[in-house]
Amino acid sequence: MDMRRDPAPFSAIERQPSRAEAIAQVAAYLSDSGVEAAQAQDDARALLRAAAGLSRLELAMSPQAPITDDEADRLSRLAARRAAREPVSRILGERGFWTLDLVVSPQVLDPRPDTETLVETVLALLDKRDAPLSILDLGAGSGAIACALLSELPAAHAVAVDLSPYACAATAENLARCGFTDRAVVVRGRWAESLAGPFDVIVSNPPYVRAGDIPTLDPEVRLYDPALALDGGRDGLDCYREIVADVARLLKSDGLVAFEVGSDQAVSVASLLGAKGFAIARVGRDAGGHERVVAARPAQP
Ligand SMILES: C[S@@+](CC[C@H](N)C(=O)[O-])C[C@H]1O[C@@H](n2cnc3c(N)ncnc32)[C@H](O)[C@@H]1O
Repeated sequence: MDMRRDPAPFSAIERQPSRAEAIAQVAAYLSDSGVEAAQAQDDARALLRAAAGLSRLELAMSPQAPITDDEADRLSRLAARRAAREPVSRILGERGFWTLDLVVSPQVLDPRPDTETLVETVLALLDKRDAPLSILDLGAGSGAIACALLSELPAAHAVAVDLSPYACAATAENLARCGFTDRAVVVRGRWAESLAGPFDVIVSNPPYVRAGDIPTLDPEVRLYDPALALDGGRDGLDCYREIVADVARLLKSDGLVAFEVGSDQAVSVASLLGAKGFAIARVGRDAGGHERVVAARPAQP
């Protein structure tokens, strides 16, 4: 049985606390609601900045300034949503990814810092960043990976595919926000079934959670990320099996494929790639030290 207390309505903000005091009060409230303590601090700071319309610098310069009653009201409402385990990025509608500020829309996966490992790995394996590379992003979601790669590869163009119409709309919005509309197309479809290649780079962060594990995920994921973005089937590998076949058909003979994988899936995904004639180029680790990315190239005959 879940022994966590239901979050109490947030009324702990005293009259006219300073910004620093309000952050401490909200952090304590969030922590009491089940948010991990260090995360609760970061979240409280982000919510205070949103409620008071402050930049990072403004908050750092004047932490002792009092908050107004209106700011306290707004902060209370935002804190109550976070206490119900809605992620801050969804409350604010924005998420920093790579060097970009992306829109996070409901019904689309909130892009994660782990996915930056995929971007880093691809960039590290490319010989030239100014080449006119063709990139295919399968399961684009918010468009985070495509946008990040286009931001680093000035002559590249991308095709971003997703089955979800919400994801296609979010990808299109983020491409436009980043100024990449003229270097990308968004295609609604089932992986690459409607596409003809070849591509220089194919990337994917497909759904990879074992179906049976979904009920055990944190509420931030289970309640707010769409099932279509999470469910990788019984062993978590269904989507890789489907995509590897597309990759074998669409990747150039000197091309590069890179997958994000679950923390215990690198060996299995590497062996799926090996069985289709690919040689592993690199396994990338995330900030927590987990094997998070498998990159491969067609094995030379
Ligand atoms: C884990 S999310 C990744 C989103 C984004 N690339 C990221 O890294 O933040 C997986 C994405 O794959 C999409 N997807 C699931 N099944 C698909 C399919 N059969 N064809 C195309 N896209 C699919 C989902 O809609 C979701 O946007």
